[in-house]
Amino acid sequence: MTQPHQPHQGDEAGKPRLGVGMVGYAFMGAAHSQGWRTAGRVFDLPLNPVLAAVCGRDAGAVRAMADRHGWAAAETDWRALIARDDVDLVDICTPGDSHAEIALAALAAGKHVLCEKPLANTVEEAEAMAAAAAAARERGQLAMVGFNYRRVPATALARRMVAEDRIGALRHVRVTYLQDWLVDPEAPLTWRLRKELAGSGALGDLGAHIVDLAQYLAGEPVVGVSALTETFVRERPLPAGASSGLTNPGGSEGRGAVTVDDAALFTGRFASGAIASFEATRFATGRKNSLRIELNGERGSLAFDLERLNELSYHDATEPDAHAGFRRILVTEPDHPYLEAWWPPGHGLGYEHTFVHQARDLVHAVASGTVPEPSFADGLQVQRVLAAVEESAGRNSVYTPVAPVDPLAPAAPTTPITV
Ligand SMILES: NC(=O)c1ccc[n+]([C@@H]2O[C@H](COP(=O)([O-])OP(=O)(O)OC[C@H]3O[C@@H](n4cnc5c(N)ncnc54)[C@H](O)[C@@H]3O)[C@@H](O)[C@H]2O)c1
Repeated sequence: MTQPHQPHQGDEAGKPRLGVGMVGYAFMGAAHSQGWRTAGRVFDLPLNPVLAAVCGRDAGAVRAMADRHGWAAAETDWRALIARDDVDLVDICTPGDSHAEIALAALAAGKHVLCEKPLANTVEEAEAMAAAAAAARERGQLAMVGFNYRRVPATALARRMVAEDRIGALRHVRVTYLQDWLVDPEAPLTWRLRKELAGSGALGDLGAHIVDLAQYLAGEPVVGVSALTETFVRERPLPAGASSGLTNPGGSEGRGAVTVDDAALFTGRFASGAIASFEATRFATGRKNSLRIELNGERGSLAFDLERLNELSYHDATEPDAHAGFRRILVTEPDHPYLEAWWPPGHGLGYEHTFVHQARDLVHAVASGTVPEPSFADGLQVQRVLAAVEESAGRNSVYTPVAPVDPLAPAAPTTPITV
C-alpha cells in the first residue's frame, strides 16, 4: 500500500498540477477528455488538471485518441497507467466488468478515482469499492462516481430549490429515461447486452442514472421497489471484433444470446412516505435520450426534460389559483449553479458541459479534501436499488426492500460541493 499521491507542485499556470490518467477512450473517454481539458479554462480551479495519460488495449487507436484529445501519453495496460508517477487521479471510462478491479488497484496505489456509472456490476463489487474508498479517504484520497446528470445546471437548481423547501413535503417523483437504439432486432450484440460485461441492461445503464437523480433531487434514498423487467429480443448478431459503442463496424459473426434486460419498469418508496415511478428502456421508438423527471410536493412541483436542458419548470402552489401555473425558468443566469463562469444569460449549455462540471467539482474536492458527491457509498446505494429491482422482477414484482448503506467512514462527512 503506497501513500496518497501528492499533486506535483508549480506548473506553468502557477497552480499545483493534478495529473489525470484515463482508462477507456471511446464514448465516455471522449466526453471526460472534454471535461478535463475545459474545466480549468472556464472555472478558476485550485489545481491544474493535466491530461497525463490515456489507456486502451489497441496501441494505434489509443495513440490516435491521445493525439486528438490532447493526452500527453498513451498506455495499453491500465496497471501501467496507475503506476505512472505523473498520474494522481485515475478516471475509469470502461465497461462495468473492469470498474472494481481498476478502482481497487488505483486506490491501493494511492490515487484518487473517478469511476463511470454504474459503480460496478454487482452489489458485492460495489461494497468492496465503497469500503476501499472509505479506507482511502482516511489517507486523503477521494473517489467519485460519474452520475453526470446531477451536474446539469437545471437539475442542480432543482436540488437547490428542494433543499430550500420550495415544493414542501415530497409526494411523488416520476422519472423516465427512454432510448430506442435497440428497436431493430438486427442491432448488434455489443458489450452492453452481455451480463458478464455490463451487469444489467437498460436497468444498470439508464436506470442507474434515474435512481441516482431521483434520490439526489429528493434528498433521500429509495427504501423499497416493485419491478418488472423484459428482454424483447433474445438473440442478436455477434460483432466480429471487439465491440465499442453501439455499432458493429467490423460486421457480424453468427448470433448470440442477449443476457440483460431491454427495459425495466419499477415503483419505489422513499422513507419520507413519498412514492416514485421509474422507467428505463432502449425500446421507446423515437426517443433518443429522453430523461424526464417531475417532483410533486405539497406546495409545488418541479419538472426537467434533458431534451430542453437549459430549462426548469416550476409550479408554486402557494400562488393564487387565478394566475398560478407551471413557469419556465431559463437556467442561464450567473447565480444559477455552474453558470457564473459561462456565457451571458440566454446563451445555453449542452450535454458535454456536465462533464466539465464533473471535473470542476472533483478538482475542488481534491484540493479541499472534501468528500465529493456522488461518493462510492452513493454508488453502492444505487447498486442496491438495482439489485432489489432485479430481485423483485424475478419474484413476480413482489415489493423488495433496499438495504440501507452503512456509514462506512463516519469521521468524514460528505459535504455537497457548493455551486
Ligand atoms: N455518464 C454517462 O452519461 C454515461 C454514458 C455512457 C456510458 N457511461 C458509462 O461509461 C462506461 C463506458 O461506456 P462507454 O459508452 O464509454 O463505452 P464504449 O464502448 O464507448 O467504450 C468503452 C471503452 O473501454 C475500453 N476498454 C474496455 N475494456 C478495457 C480494458 N480492460 N482496458 C482498457 N480499456 C478497456 C474500450 O476499448 C473502449 O475504449 C460504462 O460504465 C458506461 O455505463 C456513462
